[in-house]
Parts: sequence; C-alpha cells; structure tokens
Amino acid sequence: MRKPKVFITRKWPASVEATLTALYDVTLNEMDRPLTADEFKTALQEYDAVCPTVCDTFPADVINVTNKRCKILGNFGVGYNHIDINAAKQQGIIVTNTPGVLTESTADIAMTLLLMSARRGAEGDRIVRAQQWHGWCPTHMLSTDVTGATLGLIGFGRIAQAMARKAHHGFGMHILYYNPSPANADTVANLNAVRCDSVDEVISRADFVSLHCPGGAETKHLINAARLNLMKPSAHLINTARGDVVDSQALIDALRNKQIAGAGLDVYENEPDIHADFLKLDNVTLLPHLGSATLNTRTAMGEKVLANLAAFFNGKEPMDRIV
Ligand code: DGY
Repeated sequence: MRKPKVFITRKWPASVEATLTALYDVTLNEMDRPLTADEFKTALQEYDAVCPTVCDTFPADVINVTNKRCKILGNFGVGYNHIDINAAKQQGIIVTNTPGVLTESTADIAMTLLLMSARRGAEGDRIVRAQQWHGWCPTHMLSTDVTGATLGLIGFGRIAQAMARKAHHGFGMHILYYNPSPANADTVANLNAVRCDSVDEVISRADFVSLHCPGGAETKHLINAARLNLMKPSAHLINTARGDVVDSQALIDALRNKQIAGAGLDVYENEPDIHADFLKLDNVTLLPHLGSATLNTRTAMGEKVLANLAAFFNGKEPMDRIV
C-alpha cells in the first residue's frame, strides 16, 4: 500500500525524523531553511499531511490554494495563532496541536525570565563579559527579591498553573490570577491562589506579571500603554505566551522611562525581527523563543504529532484536534 506523503517544514529531533521516515513518504527540511508562502502552497497541493511549526504562517490565502491534496495540518507546537483556523475549517482541513508535553519546560523558562529580570542576570553577564566588573561592593547591581513576592498570572491554563506551583512551592510567592473561568478548587487550594476580577486588578497588585493567554485577535496588545501604567514601578513583566499580546512600542517606552522595573521576553511581535529598541535597553531580558526548547520536550512534541497523524491515517479521530 502507498505510504501517505508527509511534509515537515523545519528540522525536528532526530528520533522523530527517523520514525517519520520509517512510516511515511516524508520530505524533511534537512537544512532547516525557513520556507516561503509559495512553498507552503505547493506542499498543500502535493502532500497528504503538512506539519508546520509556530514560525510558519498559514493565512487564508495559503490555506485556500486550489487543487489541494492536504487533509491535515499536524502542527508542531501548542499555540496555533499562526494558522487561520477558520480557513482550515472551511476548507475541510483538520488541524492538530501538541498540548500537555511542553507545560513544565515552558513554565521553567517563564521562571528563568522572572529570576533573570528580578536579579538582573543578563545584565550582570554582559558586565562580566565586557570586563566592566571591578569587584564586589555593597551597592553594586542591587535588585529585587523574588521569594515572598506576588506573582500575577494572566490566563490560568496548564503552563500558568505549572509556573504558579514552582513559584509558590519553590519561592514562597503569593499567587494572583485572572482567567475568564475559575480554576479547579483543588488547584486553587494547593496554590492558595486568589482569582482577581480583571486583568487590570492582577496587573496593579502583582510584583511580577506573567502572561499565559493565547495569541490572536482577541488578545492582541492586551498589554498596552494604559495597562503598563497600572503596574507598580517596581514590577516586572514576563511574556512566554505570544509576542503580539504586548504592544512592543508601549513596553519599550515603559522600560525606557522606568515606569516599570523590567521585563523578560521569550516571544515577540514579528519574530524573529525583534524591535531594535529592545536591544538598547538593559532592563529587558531577551530570549529567542526557548519555552519548549529541551530535547525531551521537543521530542515529545514530535511524538504527539506522530500520534495525531497515525490516528488520522488509521481513520480515527486525532486526539489533539483543534478543528
Ligand atoms: C508552542 O508550542 O506554541 C510554543 O510557543 C513553542 O515553543
């Protein structure tokens, strides 16, 4: 029997690529070259399954290409705001994602950014490398305590709850959250978490605000100049969700004017073209979208895609189907 044709847009962990090669008539991206919209259109016309990642944009004009063969987009990643889900639905293309397996590693990066921003970790590293460190001094690079501070979470899904566990049980932090629906009672009790009535309430009460809401039109620029203005001058903003949840220019202004103390960012508007003004600021820590970037997690994400493809090609419902 003919093997299904599968197109992988970027380089995946070796063990997952080996399984893909054994099971499918697969085209890999060995050179890991970012592909163009025209290449995605051709892939949709020539393959049964196309497997994009968060850095591949699939807007309606790509998805609506004529003479399509593709029946499933097996997304490598949990976020799917880079895919026009309505267009996929209209075109009868199934879209799946990889929830659950990247929870802890992404929460670890959120805590990393929180600690780096609070304790000026990246700035200290730059000073040492530039041979600008002239010895210990009681007032050198003073920073902010994390232990016992208040962490405010915007969104309270899996990753936010994992961060809250690390922050509360590891660092004795007090947990506030805003989420449209209340969290499960056991989770709330275990974290002693307080649900706030609004985003604004979390932002104005927290020492550290960490974003965990989905990207997309509804949350675009949720953190804007007015909301940054509500934050304490001593507070830090952490973003491991999606870049466009934060108005970059407003954040740059707030950091430049010391309206807030710092920010830690793993995601950006228009990745990887980071707004150049971020690079000039010492009070922002910048990571290159590392949330899920451990070998175990990326392998588990690939295996999730494999499981979704296997279900689909065996006539079953893929477990992580979005549409
Ligand atoms: C995702 O899966 O959406 C993450 O952003 C990838 O790290």
